[in-house]
Amino acid sequence: MKGSSPDLPSSLTARDTATIWHPFTQHGLGRPLLPITEAKGSTLRDETGREYLDMISSWWVNLHGHGRPELAQAVSDQVLRLDHVQFAGATHEPAVMLAERLLEKAGLTGAARVFYSDNGSTAVESAVKIAHQHWVNRGTPRHLFATLRGAYHGDTVGAMSMGRSSGFFDAFGGLLFETVALPVPLVWNGFANVEGERAALDEIARLLETEAHSLAGLIVEPLVQGAGGMRFHSAHFLSALCGMFREQGIPVIFDEVMTGFGRTGSFFAYQQTEFLPDLICLSKGITGGIMPLAVTIASNDLFDSFLGNDFSRALAHGHSYTANPVACAASLASLDLHESTASLDQVARINRCMARHLDLLASHPKIEKTRLLGGIAAFDLAGTDSGYSAGAGRELASALQEQGILLRPLGNVIYLIPPYCITDEEIDRAFNAILSCIG
Ligand SMILES: Cc1ncc(COP(=O)(O)O)c(C=O)c1O
Repeated sequence: MKGSSPDLPSSLTARDTATIWHPFTQHGLGRPLLPITEAKGSTLRDETGREYLDMISSWWVNLHGHGRPELAQAVSDQVLRLDHVQFAGATHEPAVMLAERLLEKAGLTGAARVFYSDNGSTAVESAVKIAHQHWVNRGTPRHLFATLRGAYHGDTVGAMSMGRSSGFFDAFGGLLFETVALPVPLVWNGFANVEGERAALDEIARLLETEAHSLAGLIVEPLVQGAGGMRFHSAHFLSALCGMFREQGIPVIFDEVMTGFGRTGSFFAYQQTEFLPDLICLSKGITGGIMPLAVTIASNDLFDSFLGNDFSRALAHGHSYTANPVACAASLASLDLHESTASLDQVARINRCMARHLDLLASHPKIEKTRLLGGIAAFDLAGTDSGYSAGAGRELASALQEQGILLRPLGNVIYLIPPYCITDEEIDRAFNAILSCIG
């Protein structure tokens, strides 16, 4: 590397362009960046004072709105009390209290353990390693994981392997391990896909007849596959699928990194099924969207399979910032906010408001497959190319940005997943802008 140039650029975006490599970004296309300087409630403001409605909760993390004083206070108090200590061989009140409260929220007190990490990918990576090693510890190693087609579970190598059928990771094919991608019968408003569900469950049953003995686990994004295109499946399909794996004694992982903390209308998505997963991955909204933190909740049966007299059976996984006390304090304050703001009631209100708009959009000739669950609304742009880098969604997002609405389409899939503090008027504004841009 050479030393720095004496003529450094002065604007924020120019300085960024000279120094930063952004995630999921093709820098060669030279697309403009939004220089964001402030955020309050559901609104982001750029350096020129222009405002944007954050209709995607800043990559699905923000729950209660930006700039919440309750979260700021909790973070500040915790930094001064205990900022950090390594979590191997030490413990602290925020981590223990958060574990207690999450287990209580999940209805798992006394039945499961909380393993901490930093982000959604590591929550998944931990779950995959736990499921894998539990077979090793039992003396009957298994390596093969079943996933749902089109799944996305994060960007570490294990998480990419779980999501390899999404097509996001073709460049890494040589690094990834083998998985089996199961069919997923998609549903949308007015299309229950009963036939598709029956066919998918039959196909999966046939696979289990021959492969059950070699499967180490099943991983699913319950009810909504997020980054793969906000693809919905029914609670009935999910319950039936997971029941088949449970019958075979194969651990089931629910990746609730996106769906957790009320997004689908219940506090956790699995609460809309008949099924209690063996492992649950949580991140994104866990701190209300202000600090990186993740947990993997594991059943006591899995935890017990790691017990022994020497280290060889222990879970060899951990991160420098595991269970960071400040992030845990933010998460505890976020749980308080869920209660004081009645967050699930807010999601129900957002759902009613978005339902009215989607009903109107459903008959629009340029829109198809409208879908809505909890506080997540989505539709496809009819007759346009799909795929992450397809242009139609991006063009719409650019036009909306001009009108102060921030969206980040997935190819030709337009979705809205706003923070729970958003008002009905703000939702109206976003949908009216969408309609005017679509024409
Ligand atoms: C379902 C799901 N799992 C895992 C991840 C990865 O989370 P992170 O980006 O925090 O690593 C994501 C991110 O979008 C996700 O939607």
